[in-house]
Amino acid sequence: MFGKFSRREFLQTGAMATGGLLATRGTPLETEAFAAMSKRGAPSDSVRFGVIGVGMQGSGLLSDALRIPGVECVAASDLYDGRHTLARERADQPDLPTTRRYQDLLDRSDIDCVIVAVPDHHHRQIVVDAVQAGKDVYCEKPMSHTASEGFDMVEAAGSSGRIVQVGSQRTSSALCAKARDLYQNGVIGEVSMVELSLGRNSPTGAWQYPPPPDLSPSNLDWQAWLGNAPQIPFNAERFARWRCWKEYGTGVAGDLMVHLISGMMYTLGWDEPPRTAQSLGGIYRWKDGRNMPDLHSVLFDYGGVPVYVRLGLGTATPELARFMGPKGILEATGETLTHSPQAGRDTYPSYYSQGFPRAMREEYRAGWHAENDPTPGSEPVVGSTLYTGHDWDDVVPHLWNFFEAVRSREPVVQDAVFGNHAALACHMANESFFRESPVRWDDQARTMRS
Ligand SMILES: NC(=O)c1ccc[n+]([C@@H]2O[C@H](COP(=O)([O-])OP(=O)(O)OC[C@H]3O[C@@H](n4cnc5c(N)ncnc54)[C@H](O)[C@@H]3O)[C@@H](O)[C@H]2O)c1
Repeated sequence: MFGKFSRREFLQTGAMATGGLLATRGTPLETEAFAAMSKRGAPSDSVRFGVIGVGMQGSGLLSDALRIPGVECVAASDLYDGRHTLARERADQPDLPTTRRYQDLLDRSDIDCVIVAVPDHHHRQIVVDAVQAGKDVYCEKPMSHTASEGFDMVEAAGSSGRIVQVGSQRTSSALCAKARDLYQNGVIGEVSMVELSLGRNSPTGAWQYPPPPDLSPSNLDWQAWLGNAPQIPFNAERFARWRCWKEYGTGVAGDLMVHLISGMMYTLGWDEPPRTAQSLGGIYRWKDGRNMPDLHSVLFDYGGVPVYVRLGLGTATPELARFMGPKGILEATGETLTHSPQAGRDTYPSYYSQGFPRAMREEYRAGWHAENDPTPGSEPVVGSTLYTGHDWDDVVPHLWNFFEAVRSREPVVQDAVFGNHAALACHMANESFFRESPVRWDDQARTMRS
């Protein structure tokens, strides 16, 4: 078994469920459809949410959530007061209640759910507190800051019965839905190898974000921001560029690779951590005091399937997920999904026949052509782009999937178990980098071993 289904069962289930190569019923292929699909809208039916962390991502999630019919923002929390102003601006509500204490949102009985978009080292505490307070949670990726934290979160979500959606939004994208349908329908056969890659080449791409100019201990609760991280004096760069340090973030693995891993897991129907991870990398380009690598390559073993990952902040390269199988290649690059079928047989007489004497060679070649030359119309298609359209970065459908689950209590597309498995790949990649040795996942002990 591999995850919920064996890989072969997953392929067969897909073929049976959809009954045709390109059947896509039940998948959100038209992302605008979320609006029409939402049957609610009356104020009495609205889902009332609070947002915890209104920074770069939380402020975007706030705006995006408000594009969904029947959803209302009723409060916001952030440790930096400037983001209280930002929350009111984004919600277009000058009197939106704001607070530095996220617990104030959890205490309110009129809040159904919270969006948690804080730095990675705060995810566990806030998610556990929120589900224990009876709130459903949309938590940003990567779900956890460490492997053990992820299991605490899975446990808290399970025992509370609350919904947790993790925020690698491409699992709600039309592009991934299409890729998953195609894979389930066997277009490449059973996957034998995966390549994932992504590269950036700019200061902002490398997280050298400008701190808010007015940031100071008078408008930011610095002690609370540090949380369980080592105590250091106020530092505006740490606040804005926390991704660069392992004390708060999870590096290129947790920040970027987690999206590729989540998309791969969703496409292939996998819901497991990798068995092993082996990393190489270093800080080659951005020598700004960070302790997380800016170049990180990883080789994972996912149930026997090698997954090669290349992440770098020194050279820009397109974001790519390439799935390979005996029947060809399925390749996703942001807005495009391409299928390159392969017949898996010779299209010309074997070049080994060059080693035959002439008469033998000519006889072999003539025989080969007579038996194998394609008849008109039977040649295989050499390649086709099957999808171009919405970027696979589809936040609104992902939020919509969450808010619908809050109403219906149906499962979300990316629950805590899935989010934990995706995050574990990131933690294993980082652990292997820092240990300078391969690591394997010990499922019994829920720990990594060399
Ligand atoms: N899904 C995506 O594509 C995507 C994109 C960007 C960021 N993210 C994720 O979103 C999260 C936030 O990233 P960001 O770039 O918005 O960070 P950010 O630093 O811009 O914003 C984080 C905010 O959280 C606040 N905060 C920290 N601890 C808090 C607490 N205990 N209570 C209330 N507020 C608190 C900070 O004051 C800050 O304003 C991260 O986990 C990141 O990985 C996801």
